[in-house]
Amino acid sequence: MASVRSVTRFLLGKNIFNNNLVAPTSNANFVKFYSAAPAYENIKIDVVGSKKNVGLIQLNRPKALNALCKPLFVELGKAVTDFDSDNSISAIIITGNEKAFAAGADIKEMQNNTYSDNVRAGFLREWEDISNCGKPIIAAVNGFALGGGCELAMLCDIIYAGEKAKFGQPEINIGTIPGAGGTQRLPRYVGKSKAMEIVLTGNFIDAYEAEKMGLVSRVFPVEKLLEETIKLAERIGTHSPLIVKLAKQAVNQAYETQLKAGLQFEKSIFYGTFATADRREGMTAFVEKRSPNFKNE
Ligand code: CAA
Repeated sequence: MASVRSVTRFLLGKNIFNNNLVAPTSNANFVKFYSAAPAYENIKIDVVGSKKNVGLIQLNRPKALNALCKPLFVELGKAVTDFDSDNSISAIIITGNEKAFAAGADIKEMQNNTYSDNVRAGFLREWEDISNCGKPIIAAVNGFALGGGCELAMLCDIIYAGEKAKFGQPEINIGTIPGAGGTQRLPRYVGKSKAMEIVLTGNFIDAYEAEKMGLVSRVFPVEKLLEETIKLAERIGTHSPLIVKLAKQAVNQAYETQLKAGLQFEKSIFYGTFATADRREGMTAFVEKRSPNFKNE
């Protein structure tokens, strides 16, 4: 008889969870796993690799260029947490589609937020589920990785890019600043001058520039990106999961010291932009498809 895990793997492999099929209720483990992986609307999950030990998460709001709305992030956090606690998974991949990894936080969703809304709700707090994951997470970036999309990639441990990927922190164009780590993680990846240029201009950089700056570790032809990322995850999966976890913690320690204070500072400024008329004008202009008319207030 097939084991619970092999049945689960089979169903995951077939994307059955996303088709809302009912799981057998006779097996507690299965139900536990199933209930932790409901029918997602904004992401797709799968288990890939020759040993079926790589958790694959695809952001799936193609019409909105995978803009990172709250429901997407709640699902993403849940999927990452589930893979993190599944002993058969060695590494996790987050990817998008050929046009967009993610074009940022959802501007339409936050357009009418106020400063107090953000503070009360702890706006974007769901994103912490990604940084709390003990297993390696690899971002496979094709297309746009902008604003929160670039920040999500930087929350991952390794970034692989397709040769048409475009990275940027264009929040300045809509009257706000990066709010999910962009001002803190980007300088750590690329240094102050380049980070300042990217954040203050809102300009995009291509995959090869990103590789040269150290933001991306490797660039591949678009159609090879996922295959190569899975190979990387499988290679990591040949090592002791315990030591991989400790090695990840150790590297993060070098890189995250003082990051927390910086992130808190960044969040207070990001929230603060929601008290300005220019932030409102910037997001309204984006939604209305026109150029913003900033008034310096
Ligand atoms: N939020 C909400 N919707 C978005 C979006 C976003 N971040 N980015 C794109 N979309 C939507 C567009 O509104 C459009 O929807 P409709 O078809 O309903 O009009 C759809 O996705 C396709 O987008 P475009 O027509 O604009 O596609 P394009 O190819 O002409 O341009 C683009 C692509 C350059 C990425 C452009 O969409 C763009 O500039 N997007 C916004 C990028 C941005 O400013 N990101 C930062 C967001 S703020 C943030 O992320 C804060 C933070 O740090 C947490």
